[in-house]
Amino acid sequence: MLIGIDSLEIATPELYLDMTDLAVARGVDPAKFHTGLGQDQMAVAPATTDVVTLAARAAAAVLDRAEEADTASLGLVVVGSESAVDASKAMAVMVHGLLGLPEGVRAFDIREACYAGTAGLMTAVDYVAAHPGRTALVIASDLARYGLGTGGEPTQGAGAVAMLVRQDPRLLVIDPASTARTQDVYDFWRPEGESVPRVDGHLSNRCYTDMFARVLAAHQEASGLGLEDFAALCFHLPYTKMGRKALAGVLPPEEAEARGLGHLHRRYDDSLVYSRRVGNCYTASLYLGVASLLDHCDLRAGDRLGLFSYGSGAVGELVTVTVVEGFGARRDPGATVSALDARRRLGVEEYESVLTESLGPVGEDASATLLPDEGPYALTGVVDGVRRYRRP
Ligand code: HMG
Repeated sequence: MLIGIDSLEIATPELYLDMTDLAVARGVDPAKFHTGLGQDQMAVAPATTDVVTLAARAAAAVLDRAEEADTASLGLVVVGSESAVDASKAMAVMVHGLLGLPEGVRAFDIREACYAGTAGLMTAVDYVAAHPGRTALVIASDLARYGLGTGGEPTQGAGAVAMLVRQDPRLLVIDPASTARTQDVYDFWRPEGESVPRVDGHLSNRCYTDMFARVLAAHQEASGLGLEDFAALCFHLPYTKMGRKALAGVLPPEEAEARGLGHLHRRYDDSLVYSRRVGNCYTASLYLGVASLLDHCDLRAGDRLGLFSYGSGAVGELVTVTVVEGFGARRDPGATVSALDARRRLGVEEYESVLTESLGPVGEDASATLLPDEGPYALTGVVDGVRRYRRP
């Protein structure tokens, strides 16, 4: 049975900061952010945009594209996120409510740093395999925030990617035989009650590149697939230079050219177009890269792609997918670019005020918060710990 992603849609906040503006304000050479990290812009979420509103927007776009039969067959809604808004109630249940989904659905969250979205996706593949004819909605949604003036500040961002998983998918077929590795390490973590993570940035870079090399070698041994079998590779993108460093670690560009594998480096660039403008969105980042690759690369039906997922803590997984005939008709790159172009550019002071406010409690009435979300879904306040949302 062929199972995989039938559609994939993105939602990002309506505000952004230009990385040159941030560099100037912090007294840093802008080239460090644009070239050293590979980031041009960074999405900024106001207090009324949270992981639930982003997830709902992305999921609503997926359901708009879905066949009626696929929506009627929905049996599973999973949110992968590390930005939980409640310690008990699942964000998947909130999204289920906002979208008015049928009651006969399992809805739950998965957490393991940036790996959670992939855990959700592979759970959905297993679910559809065990329940032929059913579909699953997987949403990766996160706000990546480190705080003002921190080392991680230029690697912030926010966004959600929603995917419909079903039999005979029209975008990407997923090979269930992926390769995962787990290693208990404190490279990035967020203790309960703290609003921003603690991170050992340089250790986290090393953990990421080591994990990629180990997972790739293990996948090769288990599946017999080597680098020469992939048309392109997509990576978790905490900043767009990161995957390039991991790839260069196992395949330096000169060696790639000599082995006829230069396309892996060239196509890596095609996977960065959206992330350069959005920044890190934790669990959603890998799938933002997949969307960018599908929208900007000269892929053909039957091409095999490797997706490297990394979540600090740490879990890494290499998932193999195959491009389906007619996949281009399932994407609308123009709409994604227009949505990014339509965002409002913040000044650095505005960004600082919005970020500071969004890291604090929202209160019962969110209408007076800075630059409120004008999209279809928005947080309107928190009363007795109950989050209240506007929906269309
Ligand atoms: P830093 O110390 O500010 O930067 O930390 P740096 O000094 O390492 O410089 C960064 C790059 O810019 C270097 O390139 C410099 O050479 C270059 P590299 O050697 O790495 O190729 N550079 C310049 N280039 C051009 N012109 C210049 C210039 N100056 C320097 N003038 C760091 C950077 C990413 C560590 C920091 O921002 C951070 O801690 N970020 C958060 C952690 C992170 O993103 N880690 C990534 C791996 S872990 C992961 O992906 C998981 C995660 O998403 C969380 C989860 O799983 O939930 C984070």
